[in-house]
Amino acid sequence: MTITIPDFCLVALVGTTGSGKSTFAARHFLKSEIVSSDWARGALADDETDQSATGDAFELVHFMAGKRLERRRLVVVDATNVRPEDRAHLVRIARQHHALAIAIVLDPGEELCEERNRARPDRQFGPHVLRNQTRALKRGLKGLSREGFRAVHRLGSPAEIAAATIIRQPTWTDRRGETGGFDIIGDVHGCGDELEALLAELGYGLEWRRDDPAGPLVITAPEGRRLVFVGDLVDRGPRSPDVLRIAMAAVASGVGFAVPGNHDVKLVRYLDGRNVKMAHGLAETAAQLASQSEDFCKAVRQFLDGLVSHLWLDGGRLVVAHAGIREEMIGRASGAVREFCLYGETTGETDEFGLPIRYNWAADYRGETAVVYGHTPVPAAEWLNNTLCIDTGCCFGGRLTALRWPEREIRSVSSARVYAEPIRPFGAGPSPRRAERPALDDLIDIEDLIGRQRIQTRLGPTVLVGEAQSAAALEAMSRFAVSPRWLVHLPPTMSPPATSERAGFLEHPDEAFDYFEKAGIGALVAEEKHMGSRAIVVICRDEAAAASRFGATGGETGHILTRTGRSFMGDQRLTEMLLERIREAMDAAEIWDRLGSDWAVLDAEIMPWSAKAQALIREQYAPAGAAARLSRGAGSRLLAEALAGNAVTDEAARAEVAALAGRLGDAAVRAAGFAAAYRRYCWPVEDIDDLRVAPFHILASEGAVHMERDHLWHMEEIGRITEVGQPVMAPTRRVEIDLSDSESRARARDWWLELTEAGGEGMVVKPRSFIARNGRGLVQPAVKCRGREYLRLIYGPEYDAPGNLERLRPRGLGFKRSLAVKELVLGHEALARFVDGEPLRRVHQCVFAILALESEPVDPRL
Ligand code: CTP
Ligand code: MG
Repeated sequence: MTITIPDFCLVALVGTTGSGKSTFAARHFLKSEIVSSDWARGALADDETDQSATGDAFELVHFMAGKRLERRRLVVVDATNVRPEDRAHLVRIARQHHALAIAIVLDPGEELCEERNRARPDRQFGPHVLRNQTRALKRGLKGLSREGFRAVHRLGSPAEIAAATIIRQPTWTDRRGETGGFDIIGDVHGCGDELEALLAELGYGLEWRRDDPAGPLVITAPEGRRLVFVGDLVDRGPRSPDVLRIAMAAVASGVGFAVPGNHDVKLVRYLDGRNVKMAHGLAETAAQLASQSEDFCKAVRQFLDGLVSHLWLDGGRLVVAHAGIREEMIGRASGAVREFCLYGETTGETDEFGLPIRYNWAADYRGETAVVYGHTPVPAAEWLNNTLCIDTGCCFGGRLTALRWPEREIRSVSSARVYAEPIRPFGAGPSPRRAERPALDDLIDIEDLIGRQRIQTRLGPTVLVGEAQSAAALEAMSRFAVSPRWLVHLPPTMSPPATSERAGFLEHPDEAFDYFEKAGIGALVAEEKHMGSRAIVVICRDEAAAASRFGATGGETGHILTRTGRSFMGDQRLTEMLLERIREAMDAAEIWDRLGSDWAVLDAEIMPWSAKAQALIREQYAPAGAAARLSRGAGSRLLAEALAGNAVTDEAARAEVAALAGRLGDAAVRAAGFAAAYRRYCWPVEDIDDLRVAPFHILASEGAVHMERDHLWHMEEIGRITEVGQPVMAPTRRVEIDLSDSESRARARDWWLELTEAGGEGMVVKPRSFIARNGRGLVQPAVKCRGREYLRLIYGPEYDAPGNLERLRPRGLGFKRSLAVKELVLGHEALARFVDGEPLRRVHQCVFAILALESEPVDPRL
C-alpha cells in the first residue's frame, strides 16, 4: 500500500499501545519530524513512562507540533490518539497553521499488541489499558474521516503495516519549481477583446479554430514565458465563454496557470444547479453560456472547480492569489486560506454603497514573497509593501493590466467601453487606496526596528544586529537623523592595513598591498584620501524629481548626510546652496543623461575638515597641541639654562638632565608637527564657494546600483563633474596598481610617500571592482593607508617617539574588517531596495542596521 501525503502536513498516528506506531514512525520519517508523548514525558520528567507527566507532555507535544507547522515543517504525532477529543486537538492545531491533517491508523489486532507489550518491560500495565484503547479505537474508526482529516489511511494487519510505503508530494499550491517568465493577467471579467489585445501585446499568439474537435484555440507563448490568470475570468463582460476558452487552452497546453476568483467559484455553483443570486454580472454569463454546448459547460465546470486557491511560484519569490494572501498562508492549505484568497478580508462593516469594507491586508504585509492579486478594482497598479493589485477595472471602462515577472513591468490596454456600471464609482477621483498608499508605504513602524534584526542581503551575507545595537540606532535615528526619505544609504567603515614593521611607520602601503595579494585580488586602485568629512549626497535634478522619487514635500532637491545620517550642513538653506553648486556641475557634465536618471546618490568627502569638526579642533586638538608645544619647549629650555648656569654639578646628574632636555626638545618638535598637521586641513569658510566637495563614488541612480561597476568607471564619470565644477567640485587623484608588477607597486608607494610628505592624509586602496570576492567571500572594499604626520593627530603628538610605535603595533583589525564588510552589504542592499522601488521601511531597515553596527565599540583610532 502506498500512502501519498503532502510534504507539509500533520500526520497523526492512531493505534493502541504496541500497535507499532513508534516503529512505523522511525521507519518512514525523520527523527526531527516525530513528536511523541513518550519523548515529551522523558523530556519533562526524565522518565518516558512517568504517567504523572502526561498532561504536561501533551501540552509540549501540541506546542512542538504547532511550532513545526508554523515553520512549514511536516510533523508526525506519535501518541495513541485513539480518543476523538485527542484527534480533534491535532486537527485544530493543523488548521491553525493552515496545514492538512492526515491520519494513519495502525491496527494489527489486539492479540498481537498484547503479546508485544508482554515482552516490553516498560509496558507492564494491566490488561485493561489495551482493552480500553482498543474499544475506543473501534468506536471512533467509522467517524474518523469526518473529524477533519484530509485523508485517513488504515493499515489493518501486520502485513499491511510492514508493506506500506509513504510518498511525499508538494502541496498543490506549492509550485515553487515553476520558474521563468510569467505574464500575470488581472481580472478579465469577460472582456475578450481586451484580453486578446493584451496577449498580442505580450507576444502571445492566438489562433481560433472554432470547429476543430481537437480544441477551439491554439495558443503560443513567447520563449520562456507563461501566463497566470489572477481569477475572475467571467461575468460583466460580453465574451466570458471565449475568455474561459483562452484560459482553459493556456492551462491545458502548459503555457498558463490560473487561480480562481470569487466570480469563477460562483459560476461553478450556478453550473451545479445551486441556488445563486444572478447578480454582479452572472446573469450575462449565464445568457452567454446558454448558447454554448453542454460539453463546453461541463468542461468549464471541471476546469474552474479544479483550480487551487493560490500559486506559489518562482522559487518562492512570487505568489498569485485572486484577493491576495497573508504571509502565513502562502503555500498552505485550509478553508481559511481558500476563503482569504477568494474574498480577501472584510472588516464586517459596509460603506455608503452597501458594499463590504475591505480590510487592507496589504498595508500590514511584510513578506519577502511578492504577492500579485486582483479582486479590488484600482485606477492603476501600484506596489505596496511588495504586493501589487492588477485589477484595473477593465469591465468598468478601466484597463486590463498584466505584470511581467520577474521584470516587474506593467503592461495594460484600455477597455473598449464600459461593460458594467460599478456600484461604487470607479476611477472618479483618487481611490482611497491610492491616497493612502504613500503614507502607508512611507510609514516606518517601530515594531519593524526594535529587537534583533536579521537582514538578508542580495550580495549574500545575512546580517544580524543585536537588540542593544538596534536600540542605540533607534535613539540616534529618532533624535538626530534627517527625514528617513533621504536616508537611502550610509557608507561603510574602513579598516587600516596590518601594522607596518618598518621603522618610523605605523601604516605603510606595503601591508595594504599584501592584504589584497593574499586575498587573491591583483588589480587595485589607490585614491587620494581627502582630509575632510565623509558625506552622502542625495541629489535630484530638480524639485519635481525630488517630489516624485523621494516624496519631498518642502521644495527640497536632495540632502547631504553625514556618515551617521545627520544633516551635514545642519541647515536646509545651506544644504540647497551646496546642492545647487553640485547640480550645476552635474548639469554641465550632462551626467543626468549619461545615467538616464534625474537623481543620484554620491559618496564624497567635503572639506575643509574644520567646516564640520570646528568644535573638536577648538576644544581638543588645538589645546593639546598648544599645551604640548609650550610645556615641552619651556621644559627643555629651562633644563638647558640650568646646565649652562652650572646649577647641576654632578657629572652623572648632568648627563641625565641633558638627556631629558633632549627628549623634551624632540617632544616640542613633535608637538609643533601636530599643530601643523591639523592646520593644513582647516581654512575659514565664509561662503559656499570656500567649501570643497570631492566625490569618489556614484553610488546609485534610477534603475541601477553602480556599486556593481568598477572604480575606473566611477572615477571617469566623476572626472567629468569635477572638470567643469571647480573650484567647489574637487578632483581626486589616483593611481592604478597591478600587484604582479613590482614597478607598479613601487610607483604607488612613492606616490603615497610624496602625497603624505606634502601633508596629505593618505590614500585609500581598493580592489578595482567595487565589490570584490574570493573563495572565502567578500574582500575588504577598501583599506586606508594614512600618512605619518596625519597619524600624529590620531595617536597623539608623541606616537612615534622611541618605544611608542612598538606599543601601538599590536592592534587587532578583525572586528573592524568584519564591520566594514557587513556595512558594505547593507549599504548596497539599501540602495538596491530603493532602486527597486521597495517600500521605504525596507530601505530604512538596512540603513538603520548600519547605524546599529556603528554603535559597536571599536577602537576609534582605527
Ligand atoms: N514491534 C514488532 N514488530 C513490528 C512493530 C513493532 O516486533 N512490526 C515491536 C517493537 O519492537 C516494540 C513493540 O512491538 O517492542 C511495540 O512497538 P512500538 O512501535 O513501540 O509500538 P507503539 O504503538 O509505539 O506502542 P506505544 O503506544 O506503547 O508506544
Ligand atoms: Mg510508542
